[in-house]
Amino acid sequence: MTKVGVVVGSIREGSFSGRVAKALVGLLPSDYDVTYLTIDQLPLYNQDSDADSPAEYVAFRDEVSAQDAYIFVTPEHNRSIPAALKNALDVASRPYGENKWGGKPALIASQSPGAISGFGANHHLRQMLTFLNVFTVQQPEVYIAETPTLFGKDGEFLQNGTKEFLQSAVDQFTSLVDAIN
Ligand SMILES: Cc1cc2nc3c(=O)[nH]c(=O)nc-3n(C[C@H](O)[C@H](O)[C@H](O)COP(=O)(O)O)c2cc1C
Repeated sequence: MTKVGVVVGSIREGSFSGRVAKALVGLLPSDYDVTYLTIDQLPLYNQDSDADSPAEYVAFRDEVSAQDAYIFVTPEHNRSIPAALKNALDVASRPYGENKWGGKPALIASQSPGAISGFGANHHLRQMLTFLNVFTVQQPEVYIAETPTLFGKDGEFLQNGTKEFLQSAVDQFTSLVDAIN
């Protein structure tokens, strides 16, 4: 059994990123145990709290630590990742020397209801995960444009070709998981 933590970079109800995450989860092998790592309950990270961290940080760090791999699906906010996702990355990267993300494989997907597909967010996230020692799938890169035309509310596929493309990304992800774990 492989434990995979799914991090959705949007905290919005009805998030399009959430639709993409559901679609990806539906393509995972049956021996993958999925946990959605929620990020909207985390107070804004403050290094002063390292000595006596809020309960939400402790629980989140434990959940991150318990995973064998991660799937990140993020929207783009002002050409980068949303603040809530940055906060979650920071929370589980600290206290200094206790990065909980490191040494694990990850798949990154970005999406936008517009045409640009979250390219900026995708690459900012990739840069941060490199520093956090997370091994990301390089190819295929998953940039999803015009998300509402491709995915229904429960992550169902609305057009031909999308499922096959996402399956190719999931296959690369599971190969990387097998190679690392
Ligand atoms: C503060 C803010 C900044 C945004 N900046 C971008 C952007 O840089 N690029 C983009 O494609 N969409 C941008 N958007 C629109 C988002 O792509 C859109 O809100 C999308 O639905 C977010 O994904 P979600 O449905 O998963 O929350 C922005 C939205 C907000 C609220």
